[in-house]
Formats: sequence, structure tokens, C-alpha cells
Amino acid sequence: MSGLSQEVRSATPINPSIPSLADVVPSFRLDGHVTIITGAAGGLAHTLSQALVAQGSQLALMDLSHESLENTRRDLIHFQKQNNLPEVAISIWACDISNADEVEEVVRAIPGEHNGIIPQKLVHTAGFCQNINAHEYDAAKAQKLVNVNLLGSLYICQSMARQLLARRTRRKSISTDVNESGEVLPHFPEASFVLIGSMSGLIVNTPQPQCAYNMSKAGVIHLVKSLAAEWAKYGIRVNAISPGYIATALTKQVISQSPEGAALQKEWTNRIPVGRMAEPKEFVGSMLYLLSRSASSYTTGENMVVDGGYVCW
Ligand SMILES: NC(=O)c1ccc[n+]([C@@H]2O[C@H](COP(=O)([O-])OP(=O)(O)OC[C@H]3O[C@@H](n4cnc5c(N)ncnc54)[C@H](O)[C@@H]3O)[C@@H](O)[C@H]2O)c1
Repeated sequence: MSGLSQEVRSATPINPSIPSLADVVPSFRLDGHVTIITGAAGGLAHTLSQALVAQGSQLALMDLSHESLENTRRDLIHFQKQNNLPEVAISIWACDISNADEVEEVVRAIPGEHNGIIPQKLVHTAGFCQNINAHEYDAAKAQKLVNVNLLGSLYICQSMARQLLARRTRRKSISTDVNESGEVLPHFPEASFVLIGSMSGLIVNTPQPQCAYNMSKAGVIHLVKSLAAEWAKYGIRVNAISPGYIATALTKQVISQSPEGAALQKEWTNRIPVGRMAEPKEFVGSMLYLLSRSASSYTTGENMVVDGGYVCW
């Protein structure tokens, strides 16, 4: 027998245990889950919500106006029918994300519309941008933006985590873990919170001035790391996706209606290595990856930059 075949034989396990497909190949299905999607009436959320219902998730849509949410829900039902998807429950919740009490109230009410299922998946897109010179930024305006983009991100995560942790006392059957000091901890391995940051949390956009937005998104990226570190012991994962420029209805409108729109778009795309803005569907993969327990169980505190290479230069 040659040395080579001896090596091969000794490397072969005597009792090979073959893993099942589910142990090796991740699933991105979300059947049985309720995903909260904030900023649900917005451009990015529109596409992400379609992907979520296609993966079988029920949805709790949150945004400022009831009317816009009604339209969003109608569009989603139409999308389901057109694509012969099984119907999933879609609830709508008008709520200002910068109001902690409102957010808490809504998060508590959601299971009541979804057969008692407590949401363990979050896609948080609510936010807005303002282009104002730093030396002219009105304090109240800057405060409002930070309240929505940054504190709103904290409020929605806090309320969802609180609801999960409160379940410990009501349902004894959930899995638990014991930490080094013998304390019994509840464990939620399905819980995954995905917050939309921005490349603006890493770089300074140009030529438009937007200091409050940039600092709010830098805050979101660090909030994600802080929550991820603190809640890992409960199995709750928290991650960010940081997009570059996205061609949503909103940005398309800014470009088409502003006198400098064409020049602005040219300046932006010149700075993007792939040479174009993103389509909302280009964030679906990263969202599903981060929401999937089997695909990303070891990923937490991460900021996935999806920007066509913008931050490389
Ligand atoms: N569009 C881009 O180029 C781009 C780039 C990077 C990051 N982002 C981020 O992606 C996210 C989604 O952006 P979009 O392009 O879909 O914008 P959008 O304006 O279409 O959607 C944002 C949604 O958030 C909602 N919202 C705003 N303030 C709120 C509040 N106080 N409470 C509840 N809801 C509120 C709005 O009503 C809107 O429906 C935002 O966080 C944005 O900062 C966008």
C-alpha cells in the first residue's frame, strides 16, 4: 500500500457522521415569524417587505401615517396575489419612532394582531436626511433628526427586547442558558434585529452638507455594536446594513426636480466604483442573510456596507 493511500485511509472517519442538509445549507424562510418593518411606507422598505412576505413572514408595518401604510399594505397584498404567494397577515401601525412611549405601546399590541406571536425579527428603515450647512443648522431641527434616526433606533430595539425578555416570566417553556454566576438566562436564538445605517456613518458625503444625518448614522452603527454585545447572552443578534446611494422614488424625485439634480447625480456616481446608484432589491440578500438564524447565527454587531465600493476610495 502506498504512503498516499494510507494517509487517505487514516483521514477517513471510522464512523462518518453525515450532517443533514439543514445542518449545512442555510434557510432563508421566515414562516411562522412576524417581522416588524419600520419606515414601511418608504422606498427601501417597499422592496424589503415584498421579499419578507415572499419568504413567508407575517409583517407588522410601522410608519408615520396610517393612510400611507394602508396603501403599502394594499400593494403588498396585490404583490402576493400576482405571484401566487400564500397569504400572510399584515398589520399596520401609525407611530412616530422618536416617541418611546408610542413605540412601546405599538410593540406590545402587535402580537394581538398576529395570533399572539411575539416579533423576533426587525428591519428598521425609518429615518430621514436633511441637507443644511453645519453653521446654519437650527438646534431644534438637528435634535429632531437625531431623535428619529438614532434614538428611534434605540427605542424600537429596546421595546422588542423588553417584550422578549418579559416572556421569561410568562412562559416557562422557552430555552434558557446559565451564565458564569449561575444566573438562568432566557435565550432567543431566532431573534435578529437589522437596522439600516448608511455609508454616511463612515464617510462624509459630498457635495451636499448633512452633518446631523452623518452623525446620527455613525451613532446607529455604534448602537448596533453596543446592543449586540449586551444582548448576545440572550441570543438576540443586532446588525446594521449600511447602504450607499439608493435609487428610490425619493432620490429619483430629488434628482429630477432639483435644478442641480443631474450634476448631483453625476458627482455621486463618479465617486461610486461600480458607477451607478443601488436598486432597493440589492439589499434583499444582506437582509435575509442577517435575519436567517441558520445563515448568520455567528454574525452580530456587524455593519454590512453595501455601497458599490463607495467607501473604498
Ligand atoms: N435612499 C438612500 O440613498 C439611502 C442611503 C443610505 C441609507 N438610507 C437609509 O435607508 C432608510 C430608508 O430610506 P429610504 O430611501 O427608503 O427613505 P424613505 O424616505 O423613502 O423612507 C423612510 C421612511 O421612514 C419614515 N419615517 C420618517 N420619520 C419617521 C418617524 N419619525 N417615525 C416613523 N417613521 C418615520 C418615512 O415616513 C418614510 O416612509 C433610511 O434610514 C435612510 O437613512 C437611504
